[in-house]
Amino acid sequence: MASYTFVFLLLSALYISAVVAAQQRSSNIGLGSSLSPSSTNSSSSWLSPSGTFAFGFYPKGNGFAIGIWFAQITQHTVVWTSNRDDPPLSRNATLLLTSDGRLILQDTPQGKEKSIADDSQSASWASMLDTGNFVLYNSTGKIIWQSFDSPTDTLLPGQRLVSGKELFSSVSETDHSTGIFMLSMQSDGNLVQYPNENPQTNSKAYWASGTYGQSDNVTLNLDDDGHLYLLNNTGFTIYNLFAGKPTNRTVFYRVAIDVDGIIRVYSIIMNQKNKLWSINWESPINKCEPKGICGFNAYCTLLNQTAICNCIPGFSFKDESLHSLGCELKINNEGYRNNTMSMLENTVWEEDLYYAILSSKTERDCKEACLADKYCEATSFQDQKCRKLSFPLRYGRRTLDRPTTPIFVKVSM
Ligand SMILES: *[C@@H]1O[C@H](CO)[C@@H](O)[C@H](O)[C@H]1NC(C)=O
Ligand SMILES: *[C@@H]1O[C@H](CO)[C@@H](O)[C@H](O)[C@H]1NC(C)=O
Ligand SMILES: *[C@@H]1O[C@H](CO)[C@@H](O)[C@H](O)[C@H]1NC(C)=O
Ligand SMILES: *[C@@H]1O[C@H](CO)[C@@H](O)[C@H](O)[C@H]1NC(C)=O
Ligand SMILES: *[C@@H]1O[C@H](CO)[C@@H](O)[C@H](O)[C@H]1NC(C)=O
Ligand SMILES: *[C@@H]1O[C@H](CO)[C@@H](O)[C@H](O)[C@H]1NC(C)=O
Ligand SMILES: *[C@@H]1O[C@H](CO)[C@@H](O)[C@H](O)[C@H]1NC(C)=O
Repeated sequence: MASYTFVFLLLSALYISAVVAAQQRSSNIGLGSSLSPSSTNSSSSWLSPSGTFAFGFYPKGNGFAIGIWFAQITQHTVVWTSNRDDPPLSRNATLLLTSDGRLILQDTPQGKEKSIADDSQSASWASMLDTGNFVLYNSTGKIIWQSFDSPTDTLLPGQRLVSGKELFSSVSETDHSTGIFMLSMQSDGNLVQYPNENPQTNSKAYWASGTYGQSDNVTLNLDDDGHLYLLNNTGFTIYNLFAGKPTNRTVFYRVAIDVDGIIRVYSIIMNQKNKLWSINWESPINKCEPKGICGFNAYCTLLNQTAICNCIPGFSFKDESLHSLGCELKINNEGYRNNTMSMLENTVWEEDLYYAILSSKTERDCKEACLADKYCEATSFQDQKCRKLSFPLRYGRRTLDRPTTPIFVKVSM
């Protein structure tokens, strides 16, 4: 009986490792293989063995981009994009694993080439793995380049964000060019979210793990069960973002810094008919906190957990369909400015946002000092201190949970 159980366990173990091996085995892409967006002679993507991931051309704007996406999910979910800020590629583009082992893109009438992967070593074959990693191997089977080493806005299970690297949000759900937010795995051990602006100063951070100084070489890791955490140099978990959930092979996780600057852990059940991502965890901040979400001269109001952008008085949106571009002064067609100061209450702005500070006895004196100064566009008055502000005003957000100093904006009537 005991030995029967043993044999049974052994066989199950063998069976499980065979299944694992089969799932990790990749279909190899040989030298001379190519892809093109309009698949008349060749295909437009290479699939992983189980068909979960595809590497190749996906639509971008009026053309195409090269990337990796979930191939079995109707919600188009891109996890990596090559040269994400390049303009869309034409229908004539070709992606080629050359006979001398380089992964290149040809997209000009002259056939000019662009490297997609590091070409300091020549590849012998490539593979789209079921983990979502696209890999180039040399002749001895060693990995010489992998997409997992240059994440864009997403990490997949088994992929890590190493010390000194960042994830950048995308412009929109359909345009995966670099957007306005970043998540930085700093070399000081702190994991920090910033607006994507230089320099990244402490006062611009809108979320941080607080693991500053704990170790160098801290990494952000995502496991198969959704566990999202920081490891220190010696492999200890020093911070948990999301604990993960007991899982089975049909559930797939990913983590991304989204267009709105919030980090989210998503999961999907792969063997369901109508597959949809569900949110398992998100950055513990409100949706108005990502600095710059509303652009210049605007402030964010949280309405039923949704970020709504508002222009300051006298301003209107640059682009009604893209509020993150901010607001600009409404054109006064009479050609002169008859200015007054308009009050805006319960808002907070960038710290130390002023170019001059003077003592004024009253709020009225402060407003008049601004009206008399052509560089002054707004003021705040507190404790007999009058702060003069110039445009653009940024990182504005409405808050009702703490006392704030009102600001007065110069408005043309
Ligand atoms: C694509 O190739 C066709 C045929 O060679 C050519 O007529 C067309 O101009 C090319 N388009 C672009 C955008 O290069
Ligand atoms: C393959 O890559 C490994 C690791 O980079 C290297 O040690 C080895 O020399 C390479 N083999 C060949 C044949 O280039
Ligand atoms: C990593 O964390 C463990 C547990 O907190 C600690 O003992 C160890 O010293 C840390 N390693 C480094 C390099 O800081
Ligand atoms: C960084 O830490 C990871 C474990 O978290 C370890 O595997 C890796 O070797 C370390 N790298 C360096 C350069 O110390
Ligand atoms: C896998 O987990 C999901 C989510 O917890 C569940 O709905 C599904 O039934 C599980 N599948 C199996 C085969 O256990
Ligand atoms: C708030 O949002 C939730 C979920 O999106 C929705 O069900 C609810 O009706 C909304 N409430 C109001 C007052 O808009
Ligand atoms: C300027 O605006 C004020 C307040 O709205 C108004 O009383 C005044 O008549 C205006 N002056 C001119 C010259 O338009």
